[in-house]
Amino acid sequence: MTQLGVIGGGGWLGKALLLPALADGVIAEEAVTVSSRSGAVPGFEPWPRVRQTKSNTALAADADVVMLSVRPQDLDAIALDLSGKLVISVMAMVSLADLADRFNARRIIRAMPNAAAERRLSFTPWLASPDATDADCAFAERLFQASGKAQRIATEAELDYFTGLTGSGPAFLAAFADAMICDAVTKGIERGIAERAVRQLFLGGSSLLFESGQTPAEIVQTFLDYAGTTASGLKAMAAADIRTPIARGLAAAAARAAAGPGDRDLG
Ligand SMILES: NC(=O)c1ccc[n+]([C@@H]2O[C@H](COP(=O)([O-])OP(=O)(O)OC[C@H]3O[C@@H](n4cnc5c(N)ncnc54)[C@H](OP(=O)(O)O)[C@@H]3O)[C@@H](O)[C@H]2O)c1
Repeated sequence: MTQLGVIGGGGWLGKALLLPALADGVIAEEAVTVSSRSGAVPGFEPWPRVRQTKSNTALAADADVVMLSVRPQDLDAIALDLSGKLVISVMAMVSLADLADRFNARRIIRAMPNAAAERRLSFTPWLASPDATDADCAFAERLFQASGKAQRIATEAELDYFTGLTGSGPAFLAAFADAMICDAVTKGIERGIAERAVRQLFLGGSSLLFESGQTPAEIVQTFLDYAGTTASGLKAMAAADIRTPIARGLAAAAARAAAGPGDRDLG
């Protein structure tokens, strides 16, 4: 049975990935160890045989697969020799070359889930190093499918781009929603009502977008052709060049992802 050790496995993303994988039987609870600096973390009560430890060395000694799920600024504190093991990193900003160098590892998979993993709705692109085996890739694919959609990609540049597009994506949607709420409030609508309205809008709109046979571009065109109030709004947004700030935000996130954790100037 493949033994999985997750460093930082009690954190936000670690738990969001592990709990669905445990529920689906992708991994058995007796095959999982999670580590944190604080020791016991809540959330694994339904899985009492999941081991918890403060020792990353002990975790690594027992593991065939080590997953890294700590914040990038905490990585320097983790010094391990993971040669011979599969290393899976869900960390932003830490490259395959950096992981290989730090951990003396050759079989490495980098993935970029997002916060919707906790609802099993992540989109998770992943990338394998040349030495990762077919079995390694199959394990990663099963693991990430438990918390959403998994997609193998070819290059690290693509992973850096996806770090912004879908890794950060839930926050970008929240920023769009907040802009709508703030506008509604300036028009005199009570904030609580505006928040309720926009949350429901995003739920309904996302559902239509997901299930529609039309592409997003086709949906926009349908409303433009309808030539009603929606078309007026869409045309005004296009005239104000709505795509440019979106492209700039995605470019900034990708640049930060590629620059690595040491480069704070890129924000
Ligand atoms: N959250 C997201 O939506 C998201 C999306 C994509 C990628 N990511 C990536 O996922 C990684 C984790 O993010 P997160 O949001 O899950 O952060 P988090 O909630 O802060 O979780 C990080 C965990 O790491 C543990 N930790 C820190 N130093 C450790 C050490 N030396 N040994 C063992 N455990 C340690 C922390 O526990 P203690 O403090 O108790 O040690 C904490 O539980 C980041 O690299 C991030 O780039 C996150």
